Amino acid sequence: MDEKIRRAARILREARHAIAFTGAGISVESGVPAFRGAQGLWTKYDPKVLEIHYFLENGEECWPSIKEIFYDHFGKAEPNAAHRALARMEQADRLKCVVTQNIDNLHQRAGSRAVYEFHGNSSRLLCLRCGAVVAAGQVDWNDLPPRCPGDRSILKPDFVFFGEAIPAPAAEGAFENADRSDVCLVIGSTGEVTPAAYVPIRAKAKGACIIEVNPEESRFTAEVTDIFLQGKAGEVLRAIERELFGD
Ligand code: APR
Repeated sequence: MDEKIRRAARILREARHAIAFTGAGISVESGVPAFRGAQGLWTKYDPKVLEIHYFLENGEECWPSIKEIFYDHFGKAEPNAAHRALARMEQADRLKCVVTQNIDNLHQRAGSRAVYEFHGNSSRLLCLRCGAVVAAGQVDWNDLPPRCPGDRSILKPDFVFFGEAIPAPAAEGAFENADRSDVCLVIGSTGEVTPAAYVPIRAKAKGACIIEVNPEESRFTAEVTDIFLQGKAGEVLRAIERELFGD
């Protein structure tokens, strides 16, 4: 493993345009549960509460689960060593951007600036009728469902539900960077959700070296990964950081 870490660090040190692609796994050590796998959220909750058509018809029924999943868990989470390592790499110009499927804001809170949020962000809620935007911090979570202060419609979190389109600026930025990349670090994703999973696949097609960090193999491992660093994101990224920066 040490040799593989050294190899990955060497490739990142020499990279011209390295990018990172992150999934729920990078936030597991921050206390945010992943969606899939034995402890995954979808073993406890029904994903239909995040299907856009179901939500539009049954918002009141969906909100208690949405609050539990995204606003109780995420509210307490802090960035971990993996988020911090990526932010440091960006500051040192070793990483151009992070493309994340996560909506927990932890990359930005760790200091990353170029972040493409493929699935939006949970810190804002939207009124689909009048377009009002409400900060999650201003919501009275004891009074569900949250409603628009203007027209009293049920608010929707400003993240992408199943069946919704990816925000165009995030998708365009992500694929543009994938096209230009020569290294793509893939951290903590099963690769089961498209179109997000096409980001590393596109990078690979354009010739990038794919370095994957995950305690378990994913869909990427056999298909696109060049160097598989088996382990937890915080530990592996900290080891790479030490190789790159000497501390
Ligand atoms: N470090 C790194 N990876 C980890 C860790 C850890 N400590 N713990 C778990 N993992 C890995 C798991 O092995 C798994 O491969 O993280 C991955 C989590 O997978 P998913 O829960 O499927 O997360 P993700 O790929 O981000 O899901 C994609 O699905 O439900 C939707 O919109 C949601 O953005 C999400 C999308």
